[in-house]
Amino acid sequence: MRHFPDLHIIPRVIAHRGANRFAPENTLAAFLKAKQLGFHWVEFDVMLSADHELVVIHDEELKRTTNGHGQVIDWSYSSLKELDAGSWFDSQFSGEKISTLQTVLDFLYEHGLSANIEIKALQNCNALVASKVLDVLHQNTGRFISPPLISSFSQEVLQIIRRNNPHYLLSFLMHEWIADWEMICNELQSVAVGVNHHILDQKRVQAIKTTDRQVLAYTVNNKKRAAQLFAWGVDAIFSDCSQEIINLVG
Ligand code: G3P
Ligand code: MG
Repeated sequence: MRHFPDLHIIPRVIAHRGANRFAPENTLAAFLKAKQLGFHWVEFDVMLSADHELVVIHDEELKRTTNGHGQVIDWSYSSLKELDAGSWFDSQFSGEKISTLQTVLDFLYEHGLSANIEIKALQNCNALVASKVLDVLHQNTGRFISPPLISSFSQEVLQIIRRNNPHYLLSFLMHEWIADWEMICNELQSVAVGVNHHILDQKRVQAIKTTDRQVLAYTVNNKKRAAQLFAWGVDAIFSDCSQEIINLVG
């Protein structure tokens, strides 16, 4: 049997984009709320700005979660940081900003939270975004509560990370089922597979489990569905922190 680094540090529920039912997603307020609700791990998304800063935001477009417009990749970080990333959610969060990856890692370390860093690949920037993340990970050696999990839908991004570091914990993401997932994960030496829960069934969960990897399912907010996934062998779910999932975290 293959041996992968231990990922048993991952709890049953990971706060998806922070506790985004209570605070604007991917902001420090959402990560703080996750901590207050009893979560130990948060997932968040990173992508490049025009001047190659790593910023924590989900959408390539600014308009849903900020008062900006256009594409993140067209804005310098000095402009992005002036945007309001909280008011769209609630006026009480009007001071929230788009943070850099470094700012988020500092915040998580200070608050005792562990990180799942999801790398968003866009516009042929795979090599650049991967090398920037590698730089930040290297600079933060020893400043993680537990080893971070690095995930992406981009095989190429994860390949670059793996080529540069044999130790990082990688998770390959699948929104649609990919027939070659096992070959890809073997090549990446990934410790986990993150799967859209709508495409999971018991057989698929077991197929992944037999390769000695963890199955992480996103995005689950319903407790009956969570119970079914766990019964199938899913190791952890990403949740927006709905009340019924918070009750499970206890
Ligand atoms: O990593 C799980 C999940 O975050 C992937 O989808 O679109 O919410 O980043 P998305
Ligand atoms: Mg994500």
